[in-house]
Amino acid sequence: MSPSRPTPRYTVPGLSVDEGRQVIELLTLRLHALNDLALTLKHIHWNVVGPHFIAVHEMLDPQTAAVRDMADAAAERISALGGEPLGTPGALVAERTWDDYSVGRADAIAHLGALDLVYTGIIEDHREAVEKAGEIDPVTEDLLIEHLRGLEQFQWFVRAHLESNSGSLANADADTEEGAARAASPGKAATKRTQAKKTSSAEAKKTTKRAGKKTTASKRTTR
Ligand SMILES: [Fe+2]
Repeated sequence: MSPSRPTPRYTVPGLSVDEGRQVIELLTLRLHALNDLALTLKHIHWNVVGPHFIAVHEMLDPQTAAVRDMADAAAERISALGGEPLGTPGALVAERTWDDYSVGRADAIAHLGALDLVYTGIIEDHREAVEKAGEIDPVTEDLLIEHLRGLEQFQWFVRAHLESNSGSLANADADTEEGAARAASPGKAATKRTQAKKTSSAEAKKTTKRAGKKTTASKRTTR
């Protein structure tokens, strides 16, 4: 469920203020997801090791820059709609409905196995947001579709490292980030990231609450 937001005093011409509020709420979680993804991409950039280090390390910086631009566009759309974009880490952690990326220092291909699940989560949720935005505001719908073009291309870059000659993905059956990391790079165990003490109990609760979902560790969900 999207975090609730106050009804704006004004919004873009052609929408009621309540319609503006609905779009602001929808965009707020997309903003959190994009900011989270940009930070996660840098975390991976810093923690990849192994023979594919330089290829993956360097591949991720342009993705980070593009995702930051997407977050900027989402935030400025919230402002244009009369809302208040929340860009602080505290707001992100308080309002997000998914867990932190869980893999620490690990083989580059193992990280890509896990990152594939992260991209799947954010893309699925962006697509849901496109459907909802399309019922109210085609301009926001268009913005999110533009994001998807980039996100789906980046997921392809990741998946190309996991794909066999026959076209199957090494991590296809994995439903957690750690499982996907193991499947992508067998024999090179991924270390579970050390969790900050303050957030670990909250994250444990979220994991429990969301147990049974397809991608417990990485699911980016707007629900
Ligand atoms: Fe760097």
